[in-house]
Amino acid sequence: MLASLVGLTVWLPTVWPAQGEPQTRVFVVKAKMFAFDPATIRVRRGDHVILKLTSLDVVHGIYIDAYGINKIFFPGEVATVEFDADRAGKFKFRCSYTCGNMHPFMLGQLIVEPNYPFRGAAILALLIAGGTVGLLWRRRNPDKDNPGSGAEAAEVRSMVAQAATTERFDLLQIGFIRRMVRHRAFQYTLMALSLLFFLVIILTALFGTPIGSHNFAIVFVWIVWWALLIAILLPFGARFWCTICPLPALGEWLQRLSFIRRRNRRPFTLGKVWPKRLRNIWLQNFSFLGVALFSAVILTVPLATGLVLLSFIVLALIAALIFQRRTFCRYICSLGGFISLYSMVSPVEIRAKDPKLCERHGAKECIRGSEEGYGCPWMEYPGTLERNAYCGMCTECIKTCPLDNIAVNIRPFGADLMVPHRRMDEAYKAFIMLASAGIYSAVMLGPWGWLKGWANLSSLPHFGLYALGLLATNLLVVPGVFWLFSWLGKLFSGARAVPVKKLFVSFAYTLVPLGLMAWVAFTFSFIFTTGSYALSVLSDPFGWGQGWNLFGTKDFPWVPVLAGGIPYLQILALLAGLIFSIRVAYRVALQNFERSGQARRAVIPIAFFLTGVTMIFLQLYLG
Ligand code: CUA
Repeated sequence: MLASLVGLTVWLPTVWPAQGEPQTRVFVVKAKMFAFDPATIRVRRGDHVILKLTSLDVVHGIYIDAYGINKIFFPGEVATVEFDADRAGKFKFRCSYTCGNMHPFMLGQLIVEPNYPFRGAAILALLIAGGTVGLLWRRRNPDKDNPGSGAEAAEVRSMVAQAATTERFDLLQIGFIRRMVRHRAFQYTLMALSLLFFLVIILTALFGTPIGSHNFAIVFVWIVWWALLIAILLPFGARFWCTICPLPALGEWLQRLSFIRRRNRRPFTLGKVWPKRLRNIWLQNFSFLGVALFSAVILTVPLATGLVLLSFIVLALIAALIFQRRTFCRYICSLGGFISLYSMVSPVEIRAKDPKLCERHGAKECIRGSEEGYGCPWMEYPGTLERNAYCGMCTECIKTCPLDNIAVNIRPFGADLMVPHRRMDEAYKAFIMLASAGIYSAVMLGPWGWLKGWANLSSLPHFGLYALGLLATNLLVVPGVFWLFSWLGKLFSGARAVPVKKLFVSFAYTLVPLGLMAWVAFTFSFIFTTGSYALSVLSDPFGWGQGWNLFGTKDFPWVPVLAGGIPYLQILALLAGLIFSIRVAYRVALQNFERSGQARRAVIPIAFFLTGVTMIFLQLYLG
């Protein structure tokens, strides 16, 4: 339904007959690495547009989304592109000739006014936010019928209970899945395969062409793997990536001195326990920001990608030799933090079927290990496991539990977001991921060439400014504004006793669905337009071009697919995230306030914040 609504409000006006006299508009566009000048071209629908293209340095090209125009032009000549601007909206134009490391991000925008798709999407976001909040308000108000907190408390209890027990289906009931997952070689095989793949990535990163879009490592890590992780594995498979991740493989096999069989010997590690003060994801919050700071370089320079990945593997190996089990994955890995946060949305979980049975059963093989398998490498106890965040889905407990008390459940989306136990480090992860999605969208996909230059280390002072801005936005601005809205939530609720800090941390979890969908929207913007690189680098992974054509697809050209449809997919993702987030906000509010009336009022400012965030992303993508 949401899809057809988006279609109607947003698509229809783009083809509505134009008003006013069409004009002929001429633009002189200068291109140099890695920007167009002007980067924004504004016309009215119906205008006849003439672009005179010149390059100030190397060969560039221009491809205009949805208009399907593609023209390559050389330095010193003026190439002309002519078309009728018959579709309203904002359309990216992209450099279509590989011109250097930032080439995939050499973008501009053609805005054909009136920009109905953006306005339509904005109005739709307002209607949807208002409608979702309105639906919460229309529910029977228990305050009137039943003064006191009984009814509300019952509502919360039933929600939590519902989240915990009902609507579950245990995948292990399916015979072949059960046999596969219980087999000792299950995780080993997946890890070994991905390690092999990883080896190709390291080799091509270190020895392949320095041009990112022709290099296997860049294309398969930052386009294929990233899209797979964000758009499929995380939203649908929880931490399944951690099941197959090659980074900790060497360390884990060395610790165990075994690949597959469970050996009953002392683990090959000092086995130190991670310091208590660091048993949280703060370190991962900061290490993610550290990688994010240099992302313009890491994402585009194969050597940088290779060195980062190598350093991860070395760190994981060292950590495995010093600390027990998967300390690296749990507390150090910079990807681990956001994977744990967003895995809570996923409709898959590994849980004890009956936690009471765990309590009564003293042997605790799931912690200590048994003949069948190792004690939980993630240092969790399945008996009390209540959310996906720190379960690496290694399937050891499924093998070790003698009572057959572990299930792999299919469950409703977002069930873990209702877990009452909330933490400041996770709240900050939610801010960091949301802010980073915005910053990445602006830097990588925006029309601002200077910003790309700053992020790309063009000069140290400018990079310093960029770094400062990035850190301040992530750590101060977004949390600060959210604090204000949490305070407003308290004010609206009229409940004096609830501390703002508690609301701030609790409501931060409402940013998880919207944040994830913002990343999905970000990923849409490049996966369809750059996905075709995968075919050509598959046949020539090093990009050397001499005799390499493994699968005969080496000369597969750059083909953007569905470029005109990207904004609609982005609207769909963002609006779905908005609805989801507002609903989570109401449930979170119910947990924090005694009366559902208070909760309903407290949700208003939070819904306002969420709508504002959605507007910012709509503006970035469509405005
Ligand atoms: Cu300019 Cu590619």
